[in-house]
Amino acid sequence: MNTLIKNGNIIAEDKQFIGDIFIEDGIISEIGININKDADEIIDASNKIVVPGAIDAHTHLNIHMGDIVAKDDFYTGTVAAACGGTTTIVDHMGFGPKGCNLHHQLGVYHGYARNNSVIDYSFHGVIQHVDDNILNEMEEMVKEEGIASFKIYLTYDNKVSDEEALKVLIRLKELGAITTVHCENDGVINYLRNLFVKEGKTQPIYHALSRPEESEAEAVNRMISLATVAGDAPLYIVHVSCEKSMEHIVKAQQEGKNVMAETCPQYLFLDEDKYREKNLQGLKYIMSPPLRKKENQGLLWNNIVNKNIQVVATDHCPFDFNGDKQRGKDDFTKCPNGGPGIETRIPLMFSEGVMKGKINIRDFVDIVSTNPAKIFGLYPKKGVIREGSDADIVIIDKNKEFTLSKAMLHENVDYTPYEGIRLKGYPVLTMVRGKVIVVDNVFIGKKGYGEFIKRSTNRVISRNHNALDY
Ligand code: URP
Ligand code: ZN
Ligand code: ZN
Repeated sequence: MNTLIKNGNIIAEDKQFIGDIFIEDGIISEIGININKDADEIIDASNKIVVPGAIDAHTHLNIHMGDIVAKDDFYTGTVAAACGGTTTIVDHMGFGPKGCNLHHQLGVYHGYARNNSVIDYSFHGVIQHVDDNILNEMEEMVKEEGIASFKIYLTYDNKVSDEEALKVLIRLKELGAITTVHCENDGVINYLRNLFVKEGKTQPIYHALSRPEESEAEAVNRMISLATVAGDAPLYIVHVSCEKSMEHIVKAQQEGKNVMAETCPQYLFLDEDKYREKNLQGLKYIMSPPLRKKENQGLLWNNIVNKNIQVVATDHCPFDFNGDKQRGKDDFTKCPNGGPGIETRIPLMFSEGVMKGKINIRDFVDIVSTNPAKIFGLYPKKGVIREGSDADIVIIDKNKEFTLSKAMLHENVDYTPYEGIRLKGYPVLTMVRGKVIVVDNVFIGKKGYGEFIKRSTNRVISRNHNALDY
């Protein structure tokens, strides 16, 4: 099967130009001007922007949290992802039964995704306790199973201690893999949550007030110190929400440390005032870290421009407002943490970032596609338009205007945090390995088409974060 994309404004790896892409059997075989080859399918991309398919490095599809399960599974969630221009996800495995080994959750997640995902996928390993067996098992996970990154949590029930975090950093560095971490100070959060509940302060705003910026920034700083003790182990900090955390990250990066940062659209577009909305609407935004004061938004954008933030991912973890989130109506601590966003990341970042001139198109491609591919061992198969790479391609119509609303989205959840936001520019075609799976916001792909990608540790992360080099 051959496909020819004609006359697009192509953001290829090393150049931007108006031209064509020829695709054979799912692989980009030629990039050029006026390619004259017979093709089974010709796609006219005139006046459109052609970018590598986006990679969402932080999702929680089908995650089981106690007795509650996230609303999107690997089918509905990846359909939504594809409609929003994402062609690969790296999902964070959820916690398994107490004491289970690493392969246990890997098996569970292969079961969730196989025959369901419509786009390509991988998983981050999850570490819920640390002992010699786990540290030994990591080798097979990394080298045989292709799980080149793991996540630890510094809060929640399965949090690790500092000593355990240090052991993980040292071991994963030995294996060439990367430690990702949810940074919040558990002691601060527990103290404030208990205090607020005792004082009857149970409205959604107390979710934010019980997780102050300092509790995140302290944990970020601590992890940077531990990674330094571990011999400059690679460290990727997920869902950074505020400038106080970024100050530690920027300093570490300026010192040449192997520290990378991810933020998410919710921290760039929404702020703490959402928790004060009437009729318990604030429950929709209960996620951790919480939404922050508005002034953080511009500062986070600056960190994207300055390349101190390498990745914008979603932390997609959807629960219905009617039903799931209502568990928190009398007490915010009972509300499941997380929100949707897998479908809206690319439209939001393109419209607000590129169309409003905050970032250029190259930076946009880097933060949503190329950098996550490079950091997480998917590059150059994914994350670039270059000959030999997978033909994961998204075509964006910069003249298409949309008002985001639950009704036009495919996420299997009863609200979007971005309701009513007016956008200019939207993905109009999504292709995965040469197969068109979305046209004009309509999914036309097949359940189970997505393939598991074994990720490599062949990663060279430049000390100079202005260029993630190979
Ligand atoms: O509130 C959130 N972010 N839920 C998902 C789990 C996590 O912490 O990433
Ligand atoms: Zn987290
Ligand atoms: Zn998460």
